[in-house]
Amino acid sequence: MKITVFGGAGFLGSHVCDKLSETGHAVTLFDRANSPWLRPDQTMIVGDILDEAAVGKACAGAEVIYNFAGIADIGEAEVNPVDTARYNILGNTIILEAARRAHAARFIFASSLYVYSKAGGFYRCSKQSCELYIENYRMAYNLPYTILRYGSLYGPRADRRNAIYRFVREALERGRIEYFGLPTALREYIHVEDAALCSVEVLAPEYADSNIVLTGAIPMRVGDLLKMIAEMLGKDIKFDFLGDGKSGHYEITPYSFNPHIGKKMIPRLSTDLGQGLLRVIEDLHRELNPNLTTEMGYLVKKD
Ligand SMILES: NC(=O)c1ccc[n+]([C@@H]2O[C@H](COP(=O)([O-])OP(=O)(O)OC[C@H]3O[C@@H](n4cnc5c(N)ncnc54)[C@H](O)[C@@H]3O)[C@@H](O)[C@H]2O)c1
Repeated sequence: MKITVFGGAGFLGSHVCDKLSETGHAVTLFDRANSPWLRPDQTMIVGDILDEAAVGKACAGAEVIYNFAGIADIGEAEVNPVDTARYNILGNTIILEAARRAHAARFIFASSLYVYSKAGGFYRCSKQSCELYIENYRMAYNLPYTILRYGSLYGPRADRRNAIYRFVREALERGRIEYFGLPTALREYIHVEDAALCSVEVLAPEYADSNIVLTGAIPMRVGDLLKMIAEMLGKDIKFDFLGDGKSGHYEITPYSFNPHIGKKMIPRLSTDLGQGLLRVIEDLHRELNPNLTTEMGYLVKKD
């Protein structure tokens, strides 16, 4: 199928583009940054989602349209409410309108577990608004959709905005990890490649017009996760739990009572958290020590 992916150069979007191309789809990425992970069989369009003409052109002829573009960080959204409305809400509506005009068979949106929680601040407001617009485009214009409510992702291509990346980096660089919440905070981490695979599987007809929750299968306390990282590194790591109730993040559950329930999707095969963490550690170790190389599975110094 011909598929256009907005935000396809980002952390999650780039992995979804990889999986779509591996499945044989013709993928066009639209992003304001060139993708460092662009494959030779993919097409790149550099542009802004607020540019209606460019978005319309990128959607023409596309059967499926994904949107991963916008402000993805809760902290950034909290201090930029106007930009959050502009890029997340207006930007998504511009893409929805282009999808309707292109008679797309499916519009797929990256929402969040925070969408109907009390946590998440302006980020949550933007996701809630997008979900309402998408549902209304279905009612008003018959545009089929799938909303994916992602949980806490981790894995390759993440940056400092990603919790696990930051934990491992701080542990390696400073021997100390700072966490803005409490050690009892619960998370269900999901590896980005598992999430990306599920994001492609939802192209199946049974996922049309549904809201899907995509998180890891096993809840874990942040305090235990940090201990796990320290054990894997074999180092004495200090933890600073700041217990900041205003960080915008939830403690035990992102859910609060509301009628917009999503169905949970469990990946058929999933990356074990321990294995996934080891890979994050290895990637970061290599990034911080470019003089090391891998031989037979071991990191060794180049001569
Ligand atoms: N990473 C997570 O843990 C997570 C969890 C839940 C939901 N999500 C959602 O998934 C989506 C992708 O998240 P991510 O972590 O990959 O973020 P990211 O910042 O890595 O990717 C976003 C991409 O959108 C592009 N972009 C931003 N504004 C743009 C604009 N105006 N025009 C064109 N391109 C623009 C950026 O250049 C970037 O490549 C977001 O909607 C985010 O809210 C992410």
